[in-house]
Amino acid sequence: MRILMLGGNGFVGRAVIADALRHGAEVASFSRGRSGTDLPPEITQLIGDRDTGDYAALRTGEWDAVVDLSGYQSKHVDEAMDVLGDRVGRYVFISSHAVYVRDLPPGTDENAPRREPLRAADVLTNETYGPCKVACEDDVLQRYGDRATIVRPGRVTGPGDTASTVPYWVRRGARGGRVALPTKPKQPLQLTDSRDLGRLVVQLVTDDRSGAFNAVGPFSTIAELIETSADLAGTTVELVQVPPDAVPPLFPLMEPEAEWGERRRDPAKARAAGMPVTPLRRTIADLMAWDRDRGEPPLSVGLSPEDERRLLGKG
Ligand SMILES: NC(=O)c1ccc[n+]([C@@H]2O[C@H](COP(=O)([O-])OP(=O)(O)OC[C@H]3O[C@@H](n4cnc5c(N)ncnc54)[C@H](OP(=O)(O)O)[C@@H]3O)[C@@H](O)[C@H]2O)c1
Repeated sequence: MRILMLGGNGFVGRAVIADALRHGAEVASFSRGRSGTDLPPEITQLIGDRDTGDYAALRTGEWDAVVDLSGYQSKHVDEAMDVLGDRVGRYVFISSHAVYVRDLPPGTDENAPRREPLRAADVLTNETYGPCKVACEDDVLQRYGDRATIVRPGRVTGPGDTASTVPYWVRRGARGGRVALPTKPKQPLQLTDSRDLGRLVVQLVTDDRSGAFNAVGPFSTIAELIETSADLAGTTVELVQVPPDAVPPLFPLMEPEAEWGERRRDPAKARAAGMPVTPLRRTIADLMAWDRDRGEPPLSVGLSPEDERRLLGKG
């Protein structure tokens, strides 16, 4: 099986590559060559840039499937499809659960209504990211039809997670003590382990399967994430609810209550297609070990210990 990854050296891409190699695939990865550390030596690396339309490195070659992890705007997928044409058997587009309209009730599946497509955005924000992914999905489906597969992950984490969002809460739980929580402890989460996502993608390619799949993990809550992190680190925590406006905007993993249904999507279709469910405790333990190994670099989100103490009235 020959797989071309657009964005194989990113966080999710590495998990897909690890699974593909375990299953004997031959893998090439196309990117600018900027993200992360070196890829395994058996990966063919192709250099180009989707923002400038530089796809020269993809002018030759044939693959059973392309897995597109770096398509964020319709121009990205349109240009890639123009270049690749019928030299790829299947186009697997890594979309996002952000394509769905907000305020859906719990339990919706892949047939839930999507947001209006946005064909181009100057910047990708919380508002434009989902609609731009909708436009990408539409274009891939229109061009490849039955040879298109759409994967819609929720928030992905696990070892290698270079975003700050989940590591903030894992580190915060591990530190123990009084934790400022700008939401109710029962706020739902549905974190996706990157290794489960990698397994799903490779299985979909192996089975040459069409359609859309919600790639979401086990049901949990923000309290479970923090308390499990504390437990794994041998500490204890006291969750102290604070008003949402007492912390910086876009605080990690915080969602308005009206949108909590988004964290209870139906995972049945992806599970039936072969997506495993790593227990949250294992995902956190492996993320924590990886984060410690890399020396716990500063995170870009959350409260500093000093600000948190001040907020909780002890500073
Ligand atoms: N992480 C999540 O929680 C999550 C959730 C839902 C959906 N997704 C989707 O999953 C996909 C992968 O996410 P990720 O978290 O793995 O992202 P990431 O770590 O930022 O990786 C992005 C990848 O795209 C490549 N890339 C970026 N700009 C490029 C350009 N102009 N030309 C060519 N390649 C480019 C990067 O490589 P270079 O820097 O070397 O170019 C890298 O390989 C994305 O489509 C994202 O929307 C992610």
